[in-house]
Amino acid sequence: MLINLIVNEERRTLEVMPWVSLLDALRDRLQLTGTKKGCDHGQCGACTVLCDGKRILSCLALAVMKDGSSVTTIEGIGSEGNLHPIQTAFIEHDAFQCGYCTPGQICSVIGMLEEGKANTRDEVKELMSGNLCRCGANVGIIDAIMDVKGSTTQTTKSHTTKSYE
Ligand code: FES
Ligand code: FES
Repeated sequence: MLINLIVNEERRTLEVMPWVSLLDALRDRLQLTGTKKGCDHGQCGACTVLCDGKRILSCLALAVMKDGSSVTTIEGIGSEGNLHPIQTAFIEHDAFQCGYCTPGQICSVIGMLEEGKANTRDEVKELMSGNLCRCGANVGIIDAIMDVKGSTTQTTKSHTTKSYE
């Protein structure tokens, strides 16, 4: 099937089989490999992208379902020398180790902040719970988000071991 997408503000037309996921279309057809495949089953959040401004799991979306949509991947968020504030905060708070989950985390944070439901640290933790970090950088991730929200009340170091029970 022929589909049209706006990907990172660029119009892209591609032919895909109906069963191809948006994730595979992005990675294998458009070579946008910043979006990661973790579980491929909707359980890890590594594949999170923004679709029409909302965060979605691209492994669970068929590319044909998104015909006509506007998709933003990590390649469309900030650039070297001009990072998105969330990316800067991730660096400042040591919010990654291997970095495999990071593109999905960044996209998810941007989508979550747009949703406007995360007011407290606990709400942020809950709303980011679909994005897993196997390296255990979760505390730094939440610290980075709270920093960007301008409401950090606790430091990274002070609850490295106890805040993510
Ligand atoms: Fe999509 Fe894990 S790869 S949720
Ligand atoms: Fe390695 Fe999150 S930084 S999985």
